[in-house]
Amino acid sequence: MVQEDNKRRIDELFANGFLSKEDFKKLIDERNNESAEYLFEKARIRQHETFGNKVYLRGIVEFSSYCKSNCLYCGLRRDNDNAERYHLSEEEILACCRQGHAFGFRTFVLQSGEDLSYSDEDICHLILSIKKEMPDCAITLSIGEKTREQYQMYYDAGADRYLLRHETASPKLYQKLHPADQTLENRIRCLKDLRDIGYQIGAGMMIQAPGQTTDDLVTDLYFLHDLQPHMIGIGPFIPHHDTPFRDEKAGSVELTLYMLGILRLMFPKALIPATTALGTIDQKGREMGILAGANVIMPNLSPTDVRGKYLLYNNKICTGEDAAQCSLCMSGRMKSIGYETVITRGDAPGKGPHEAKMNI
Ligand code: SAM
Ligand code: SF4
Ligand code: FES
Repeated sequence: MVQEDNKRRIDELFANGFLSKEDFKKLIDERNNESAEYLFEKARIRQHETFGNKVYLRGIVEFSSYCKSNCLYCGLRRDNDNAERYHLSEEEILACCRQGHAFGFRTFVLQSGEDLSYSDEDICHLILSIKKEMPDCAITLSIGEKTREQYQMYYDAGADRYLLRHETASPKLYQKLHPADQTLENRIRCLKDLRDIGYQIGAGMMIQAPGQTTDDLVTDLYFLHDLQPHMIGIGPFIPHHDTPFRDEKAGSVELTLYMLGILRLMFPKALIPATTALGTIDQKGREMGILAGANVIMPNLSPTDVRGKYLLYNNKICTGEDAAQCSLCMSGRMKSIGYETVITRGDAPGKGPHEAKMNI
C-alpha cells in the first residue's frame, strides 16, 4: 500500500512541481516500492502531456579521452596513468556524424575530457563543418569548463546546447569529489554564462556519489529549481578501478529511477535522458528510466576501436558494439515498452535553431 504521507507529497509535487525541503527529504527517505510506482505513474502523465510516447535520440561522439582535470570519480582523470588516451580528427568526428545522420539522428553530442590540444578555432571549425554538411542537426557540446568568451565563440559558430553537470550543489561534497582547484563556484559560473549566451543548458548530478546524503540531493533539487535548465542528466555513480574511489559502492538503480520520477514532476518539459550509466548497472536500466519519466536516449556513435578507451567507470556498456548495433538496439528497446524514437532535433520546448555568426 502507498504510505499515506508519501502519497500526499507526490500529489502535492504533481500539482505544484515543488515541495518544502523537509517534504523532499521525507519523500526520498521514506520511499518504498509502492510509492515509487505511484510516483512513476504521475511522472508518465506529465511526460505524455508534453512528449506523448516519443523518445528523442541523441548520437554521442566521445571524441577525446585526454583530460586536464582530475575529478576523483572519473576514469579519464589526469592522474590515471593507466587510461588509454586517444583523440579523433575532425574528419573522423564528421564520419561518425554522417553515419548517425543516416540512422536518423538529428542531434550530435560532442563529448570529451578537457583536452587542450583542440584550439577554439578547431572546435569552431568542427561545428561549422557539421552544420554545413548536416544543417538539419543540432549540436550539443559537452567539453567542460571554459571562459565565457570561449562559450560565446562556439555559440556563434552554431552550437545549440551545452551539457555541464553541476555534479553536486553542496560545496562540501563538491570539494570531496574534486581537487581544490576545481570549484563549484566556477561550475555554476559556467552554467550561468551558457544560459545567458542563449544555449539550451543541461545540468545534473551523480546519484550516490561517495559521501552523498539525502540533504545533498535535496540541495540539488533546490539548485535545479533555481537554475531551470532545459536538460537534466542524472545517473548512478559507478566506481572506476583506477581512481581514488575504486572501493566505493555504486549508486542504485532504484534511487536513480526515483530521482528521475521526482525530476519529471518538477520539470514537466525538461529533456531528461535515461543514461548509459543507468544501462550499465541494470540491463533494463534505460527502459526503466523512460518508464520513470525520462524522454531522451543517447546511443553511442563513437568508432568501435576507441569505445573501450572512453572508460569513465567500470563495465561501461556498448564498448563492443558499433553505431548501427546501438542504434537498432535502442529503437527496439523503446518499442518493447510502447515508446517510439523520432527523427527530429528534439529541442527544448520554445527553443530552436539559431543563426550562426561565422562562416568557414
Ligand atoms: N569532461 C566533461 C565534463 O566533465 O563535463 C564531459 C565528459 S564527463 C566524462 C561527463 C560526465 O560523466 C560527468 O559530468 C560525470 O557526471 C560523469 N561521470 C564521470 N565519472 C563517472 C562515474 N565514475 N560514475 C558515473 N558517472 C561519471
Ligand atoms: Fe575530465 Fe570530465 Fe572526467 Fe572530470 S568528469 S575527469 S572533467 S572527463
Ligand atoms: Fe549499445 Fe544496446 S545501446 S548495444
